[in-house]
Amino acid sequence: GVDPRLKAITAAIRVVPHFPKPGIMFNDITTLLLHPKAFKDAVEIFVERYRDMGISAVAGIEARGFIFGPSIALAIGAKFVPLRKPKKLPGEVISEAYVLEYGTDCLEMHVGAVQSGERVLVVDDLVATGGTLSAAMSLLERAGADVVECACLIGLPKFKGRCSLNGKPVHVLVEAI
Ligand code: PRP
Repeated sequence: GVDPRLKAITAAIRVVPHFPKPGIMFNDITTLLLHPKAFKDAVEIFVERYRDMGISAVAGIEARGFIFGPSIALAIGAKFVPLRKPKKLPGEVISEAYVLEYGTDCLEMHVGAVQSGERVLVVDDLVATGGTLSAAMSLLERAGADVVECACLIGLPKFKGRCSLNGKPVHVLVEAI
């Protein structure tokens, strides 16, 4: 059956119409963070899923993957790897550009952050087109990592239920409005 904790998680996510642009419905997780029980439940649902999957690294996507990823990593005994927007990481990086609705963006990862063959979980708050997750997976795979799954709190309807992206499963907790 459906996890009873999901109802309160869904209720705590605020939907802001026309942000950041006209026509966009913005799913805002900052209101979830104000409800410690729902925030904790969201992290725990992921921890229950990933604790025994041999995952040794959690890669979080800037910015909101940094809010959920580290808690999951600590609870499952994995390291945390930040995937950052350009020119934020001080060491040697590999970069992966991706296409947005207007223009392009880029994610970077430190060389040496993951080992070849390491089993990695990718974490973000939301998946819409999947472009950001695809870039994250490409970065990790170029470094030789084995991407086990992508975990997102919120997904557009096509990502709810078990769905895959570039041959890897995407696990979404709740559907975007
Ligand atoms: C949002 C969201 C995801 C991405 C999902 O981040 O947090 O990272 O968009 O969209 P996609 O599936 O279509 O790629 P955003 O690009 O707003 O960046 P930010 O976290 O730095 O604000």
